[in-house]
Amino acid sequence: MEKSGIEPRLIIVCGLPGSGKTTLAKVIESRLRAVRFSPDDWMDALSLNIYDEESRGKIEALQWKFGQELLGFGLTVIIEWGTWGRSERDTLRLRARALGAAVELHYLSAPVDVLLDRIQRRGMEQPPIERDTVSRWFEMFQAPTPEEMALFDAPLVADPASGSN
Ligand SMILES: Nc1ncnc2c1ncn2[C@@H]1O[C@H](COP(=O)(O)OP(=O)(O)O)[C@@H](O)[C@H]1O
Ligand SMILES: [Mg+2]
Repeated sequence: MEKSGIEPRLIIVCGLPGSGKTTLAKVIESRLRAVRFSPDDWMDALSLNIYDEESRGKIEALQWKFGQELLGFGLTVIIEWGTWGRSERDTLRLRARALGAAVELHYLSAPVDVLLDRIQRRGMEQPPIERDTVSRWFEMFQAPTPEEMALFDAPLVADPASGSN
């Protein structure tokens, strides 16, 4: 069932670059009339290098500040920052719940070679990404466990690849 409005909801889309976060977030955005926060879009609009981690951190902080205000207005907010770490996702979930919002977590994954292929085809990174880098990211990423997933609310829009709902 889809709905929008009164009930605030935070939707976290996590996964490595190339995992399909933006693709899914855009589907959810239009289905739920949600506000989508993508650091890549803002960095691109500001002509920043997407590897500029300091600027990325500031943009994410700004997006989260606005995101919390929008949740306070009862809106649906989508965050597609990557959120590689469990503690980062815990912080977002707890804060959103404190604001009275439901919270969804969508986890997208793909094998290293698939991620690499998608990233290279997209051609957004300069210099181009190497396989070793993607492998390293893969090791660093803290994939949500079933125990963590159980801490979130059921999604209003199912992931296309999940085969459920
Ligand atoms: N499930 C999928 N199957 C095949 N290609 C996909 C899938 N999801 C995304 N893509 C493609 O992979 C590329 C990266 O997707 P994107 O949504 O930008 O990922 P992210 O935002 O996680 O970096 C895009 O070109 C997109 O069209
Ligand atoms: Mg993206």
